[in-house]
Parts: sequence; structure tokens; C-alpha cells
Amino acid sequence: MNTMTQIGQPISRLEGKLKVTGAAKYSGEYKVPNLLYGYVVSSAITKGKIIKIHTESAEKIKGVVKIFTHLNRPGKAWFDMQYADMDAPPGASFRPLHNDEIKFNGQPIALVVAETFEAAREGASMIKVDYQETKFQTDLHSNLAAARDAKKGMATLLKPPPPKPTGDFEKAYAESDFKASGEFIHSTEHHNPMELFTTTTLYDGKGKLTIYDKTQGTINCQLYVGNVFGLHFKNVRVVSPFVGGAFGSGLRPQYQLFLSVMAALDLKRHVRVTLDRSQMFSFGHRPQTIQHTRFGATQEGKITALNHTSVAETSQFEDYTENVTNWSSMMYPADNTLFEQKLVSLDVNSPMDMRAPGGSTGLHAIEATMDEISYKLNIDPLELRLINYSTFNNAEKKPYSSKELKACYLQGAEKFGWYKRSPQPRSMSRGQKLVGYGMATGIWDAMQLPARAEAIITKDGKLHVKSAVTDIGVGTLTVMTQIAADEFGLNMEDVLFFYGDSKLPFAPIQGGSFTTATVGTAIVFASKALKKKLLKIAKTSNEAFKKAEIEEVTFKNGMMIYKDCSISFLEIINTNKDKPIRTTNFGYPHALKLRKYARAVHSASFVEVEVDQELGTIKVTRALTAVAAGRIINPKTARSQVLGGMVWSISKALMEETIMDAQLGKYINQSFAEYHIPVHADINELDVLFVQEDDKIINELGIKGVGEVGLVAMPPAIANAIYHATGKRINRFPIHFDELM
Ligand code: MOS
Repeated sequence: MNTMTQIGQPISRLEGKLKVTGAAKYSGEYKVPNLLYGYVVSSAITKGKIIKIHTESAEKIKGVVKIFTHLNRPGKAWFDMQYADMDAPPGASFRPLHNDEIKFNGQPIALVVAETFEAAREGASMIKVDYQETKFQTDLHSNLAAARDAKKGMATLLKPPPPKPTGDFEKAYAESDFKASGEFIHSTEHHNPMELFTTTTLYDGKGKLTIYDKTQGTINCQLYVGNVFGLHFKNVRVVSPFVGGAFGSGLRPQYQLFLSVMAALDLKRHVRVTLDRSQMFSFGHRPQTIQHTRFGATQEGKITALNHTSVAETSQFEDYTENVTNWSSMMYPADNTLFEQKLVSLDVNSPMDMRAPGGSTGLHAIEATMDEISYKLNIDPLELRLINYSTFNNAEKKPYSSKELKACYLQGAEKFGWYKRSPQPRSMSRGQKLVGYGMATGIWDAMQLPARAEAIITKDGKLHVKSAVTDIGVGTLTVMTQIAADEFGLNMEDVLFFYGDSKLPFAPIQGGSFTTATVGTAIVFASKALKKKLLKIAKTSNEAFKKAEIEEVTFKNGMMIYKDCSISFLEIINTNKDKPIRTTNFGYPHALKLRKYARAVHSASFVEVEVDQELGTIKVTRALTAVAAGRIINPKTARSQVLGGMVWSISKALMEETIMDAQLGKYINQSFAEYHIPVHADINELDVLFVQEDDKIINELGIKGVGEVGLVAMPPAIANAIYHATGKRINRFPIHFDELM
């Protein structure tokens, strides 16, 4: 008998073998007969107009079928439709090949479609364009005078503006015993998932499209394609079972989706469009930001005044905003607060959510300023956090539904060996390397959205569960199977989860670390309804169940059990004339109950660095992140999520940036050779610890979500460790070794 529950088990990814053996098919890997290939031509200028596109020599290439530009792109009427998507910020979404106007460098201006990929690429390389260039601005620092408030819109629902001022910040700050302040500069970053952005559109000749797309939202792309091309949603199916990473870049439909569908509809053929690596630097990105903090504290270390401002870039056509300055008053209960977020429109593509958007930016400024205060007061950085600890969210004026951050601090510090740290900067060394310990707090939203799920007992007595949700590599398939298995007391083998397909029940985009809470809850709702249905049917054939109430019935190994009687799923199916039994249900957050509570995931990171005294080179030798994220469904996949965030933390603090040449208005390091991310040699000892956090309020399963929380605390912990090692506080990310020489 199976007495083990699946939730809580470190189960390996169910699709892992398919991925490592190459059997998993990604959107550009489907074998399709008579497939056409599209290659994108990107704008070489940053702003202005296209005067002429010379396509003659490209058209002569053998195999080239058609070259689409703004002049001959089909179906002008389509362009009056809505281009917005579930993650579109306020403004007018970008319309590929819409007209002769260039809004950012790398903008797609033509699509060469050919019988082979090579012919399409060769054709694209032969296209010459005459432009009329106009003056552009791509540098945030020289355009600060244009900073303004962001427009409000749909996407701001999940990203509330900074909390309103409280008390009198200026007075409290002026009068505070101890003060710390800083300016924090972050460069642009581009999502660079391993898998390139690809769409394969299959045209069936009867007006139906099947689209294999790299995306974080099958239904989001289905709605987009339907809206943009004036197609009935039923005729658009978006399929995306395997996604080779996305990190937010797949939250919005990307332009290769548009171009692939456009060409397929026009040519009445199957068309695949794949972007190359450099073209992946021409869409959404983490915006460059400038932040300022001013924190005031009492002699005892109580924070009394918090001021945090940020200014970020956006495009000329959309107001993308992320929560940079909302976090400090969610963590530290100061009476006097002042927060501000501004935008500057530049001639770049719209920024987009990128792993822990806003949090990974804002927490650096907050936690480095807290670190600074700890040195001024001569209080241990961890002790300073404990002095300011609160289970009350001062920004929302609500208690947290649960908050085991203190356990993260204490268990993390113990395991890491934090207390071996000697407090003075430059006081620890190893040979000719300076050694530093740094720590920081992390916080991320614990969100949940509505979603639907279908649960079915099949003719052979197995459980099938269905949702349109994707699995962008985080373990969603495995985790959802675990949740469904436990609802029915089944083994993993008896449950099949169908996902990554827009024809399945509604799921929102996969992001914000809200997927497990969102789709997991929908599965619980659907399972509960299905169990009721099973009981109802059992009652019609089995006397013993006549008086049973659903609360008195248990499910185990394909049996429904009541007192000392049991009936198998197969018998119930038999009663149902051998037909499967199914229900589809909405799962949703309990808005009324949740109204009284604030919700968040917390973490604490501890980092050891070595800094070479002569060369300034930095090595993160050890790091530990302790996480309080409610119930952990799968400690293995959850750990991998946090590990990924920790590797990215090293990247963010020390390596990763897209460098804008403001003279050219162009990113100049559009390749993995020059866009630096960590390699194996950069990664040393990383440790993850989940503390027990039982949240009875947040949702049926007590899930908060793990993912982005791995990338919020560790970047500032690295900066703080570098300060401890060297006595130098570098507030510009990434921190370059020359600043430490
Ligand atoms: Mo994440 S930036 O919500 O995909």
C-alpha cells in the first residue's frame, strides 16, 4: 500500500530524461514537411524612417519565396486590432512591420522567407536599407530632467505603485541619530535563455493554425494572435510543452510569433521564424535604473525614517514599471517614509519583467543601506535586522499571513557560520586574499491568480489533470502531478498532467512565482469536485456508500473508501457506462479572507567572498540562502529554483550588463562572448535551506511560491561581503574588479 504522500518528496523532473536525451521537442524542433523559414532583418539605426528597402538581390537567391516589409505586409485591416497582451504595460504595444518608422535599434523591419533557413539568412544579409536618421536618446543618466510619473494601466494590478508617504520623513531623517544614504546604479540586462525565440506556425488550409511557440503563456499568445489577425480563438492553438528557459522574456508575445503567423497566413504554408542570439538583445530587458536611499536610525538601531527613490528607463511607446521602491516598508516598520518611482522615455524597446523584476533591483539599495547603518552603529548586520523585525507589513498596514524570516536569519546564520565573522572591514584574510562575510534580507510577493483545471478519471481508472499552463523549466509538470496524486492518494505513475497547450483549461502566464499557488489551487478545486462526482455515481450502484458524506470518504490507490467498505475507480467507471468522469473548475484566491493579510515570501542570504588584494578580482567562495516560502511541494525542484537565483545573483552583482553605446544608440555586447554570465568555474559552494512555514491562510495547500526569491537577497549580500572584505562600498552593479584596486 502506498502510504507516502507525494507532496514534500524530492521527486526528479518527470520530463528530465526526455530533455537530457534530446527527445523533448522545443518550438523550433518539430519536423514539418514543406516548411518555410523566415529570417528577420533588423534595423541598423536607432530612430528615424525607412526611405527604401533594396530587396532585389535577396529575391534572386535560390529558394527565397517572399520578402515582407512594411510596404507589402498583408492585411492592413489587421493592424487596427488590439496588440495588447496579458502583460502589456500602459501605452501602445509594438507593431512589427507597421510602417516606415524606426523606434529602436534592432527593430525588425523585414522578414525574408525561403525554402531553407540558409537561403533566408543569406537573403536577409543582402538586404540594403536607406534610412533617414533622427536624433535619439538612449542614456538614462543624461536624460534625468525628463523623469516623470508612470501612466497607470492593467499591468499595474500586480504591480501597485509605491506606498503613500507616512509621518514626516525629512524631519525624522534630519533628527535621526544615525544616517546612511546611497546612489545605486544598475545597468540594463537582457534575458538570455538557452533556447532561442522560435515560432513554428502550421497552416492546415482550412483557416486553422497550430503554433509551436516559445512562450510563458499559451493562452496569452492565442489571444494575441486571434486579436491581431482577426481570427476566431478556436482556430488558433498555441502549443508549448517544453521551454528552454525564459526568465520573463516569454511573458509577452515576441515579434517572431507575429512574423511567423503573418507569413503563414499570407503564403498559406507552414512557416518557422527563429531569432538569432543577437536579435534576442532587441526585445524586452531589465531597465537601467538609478536609485537613491536615505535611512535614519536611532542609537539602538531602530529604523525611523525610510526614503527610497528610483528612476528607470522605458520606451517611447509603453510605460513599463516594476516595483523597485515598495519593499523596505514591507520589511522594516519605520514611521516616516517617502517613496518615489519615476520613468524616462528613451529610444529603446520597452523593458520587460526579468526574474524578480524590481525586487532584485530595489533590494540591493535597501540592503546595502541597512548594511551601511550597521557599520555606523557598530551593530552586527544580522542583529540590526532582528532589531527591526516585524511580522506586520507597514506598507499595507496588515499582518503577514505567515512570516518565518526570523528562522531564515537564525538557521541560515548558524549553518553558514556567520558568527565566526570578525566585525571590522579588512579584518579577515586568506593568504593574499581579503575575506568578507555579507548578509542581506530578501522578500518577494506571494501571489495567486485565478485559473481553471480539469480532472478526469479515465476508463482505465487513472487520473488525468489538465491546464494550459507552461513549464518553463521550473518543474511545473512534476509539482502539479504531485499535487493531483495527493488529492486522490495515488502514486505518481497513476497520474498524467497535460499542459502547455492553449486548448486546455485557462491558465494565466507563468510568472511572478505564482504558478504553483495558482494552478495547484485550481487542481485542488477540480479534484474536490471530481471526488463529489465519484461519490454520487458510487451511490447509485453501491449500497454501502448510500449514506456517505464526502468528508467521510477517503481515496487511496484507486479506491474510494468509506468505513470498512471500498469501491475501485474502475467499478465507478463501470457504473458510469464505462465513460470517463470529468470536472472542470475554477481555482481562485480567497479574496475576502486574504483582504486582512499581507502575503510575502522571505529569505536571507549569507555570502563569503575573497578579493585579491593586488588584482581586485572577486570570488564568491560560499553562499547560503535560507527561504521561507510556505509549503514546499518538491524540495528538489524548489532547491534548483533557488540555486538558479543564486547563480544569477553572482551574475547580477559581478558580471551581467548590456552596455549601451549612447553615440550609436545600440547595445554593443550582443553575444555570449561579451555579455558575461557565470560559468562553472565561477560557482563554488552554494547551499539552500527551506525553513518550516505553515501558512493556513494563504490558500488550500499553504503554497507561497519559490523562484524569484532566490535572486533578491544574494546580490546585496555579495556587495556587503565585498565591503566587509575591502572597506569599499561599490553601489554600481555589476561590481567591476578595477573599482577595488
Ligand atoms: Mo518571471 S520575470 O515573472 O517570468
